[in-house]
Amino acid sequence: MSTSIAIDGPAGAGKSTIARLVAKKLHFIYVDTGAMYRAMGLHFHKRGIAPDDEAAISAACKEADISITYQDGVQQVLLNGENVTEYLRTEEAGKMASATSGYADVREKLVELQKKLAASENVVMDGRDIGTVVLPGADVKIYLTASVETRAKRRFLELEEKKIPCKLEEIAADIEKRDYQDMHREHSPLRKAEDAIYLDSSDMSIRQVSDAIIDALMEKLAKRRVPDRNLEGALEEIIKKECGQI
Ligand code: DC
Repeated sequence: MSTSIAIDGPAGAGKSTIARLVAKKLHFIYVDTGAMYRAMGLHFHKRGIAPDDEAAISAACKEADISITYQDGVQQVLLNGENVTEYLRTEEAGKMASATSGYADVREKLVELQKKLAASENVVMDGRDIGTVVLPGADVKIYLTASVETRAKRRFLELEEKKIPCKLEEIAADIEKRDYQDMHREHSPLRKAEDAIYLDSSDMSIRQVSDAIIDALMEKLAKRRVPDRNLEGALEEIIKKECGQI
């Protein structure tokens, strides 16, 4: 029996930082589903397909073989056998992912892959529809958000550090636009699952957010009838570390 933590929320809320940290602490696998939509976007871009050509997108979907492997615990995405991980954060992949992730054929294909991964491994999975569509039975569901102002500031500092020129107001406007697109699309719009825990990270540290998630999992596991020995070991280790025993 595998255990899963679903983390959904808007762009820039800190989902990947938190999901990666929680997965590391628990010895779970971190599944970044946004990277899969980006790989699909890259596939369409490479083929010169216009993002509004739904028929061509559906046909190209059938020729995209996307799979996930792990190198030193870091997710690698293979597109038709080629490791495309380093290209996923490019502007082209991001724009194409955003424009095509609303299509039913794209979602169907990637949701199937995500469900398969979670069936065999303990996972922390982040995205937009994990608690609502991909893993409706997840052990813990989190809806992680932060104010537009906070998210824009975080992104601004990130870009500034990389010496990429940017304007705070433009970043904030872009975030608002992406939120609207994610929340109002026809298929699997971003929304909080009814049983998800709502966390606003605007005034929380990374540590506070990850602790809240691990606490929620511990509470859940305490109610489980059949204990998971591996998981208990990992949790015990965390508790000992917190108490300075190791
Ligand atoms: O989180 P991200 O920026 O890497 O996501 C890339 C795009 O994929 C973004 O436009 C939202 C979309 N996405 C989605 O529709 N469903 C998911 N489960 C994950 C990402």
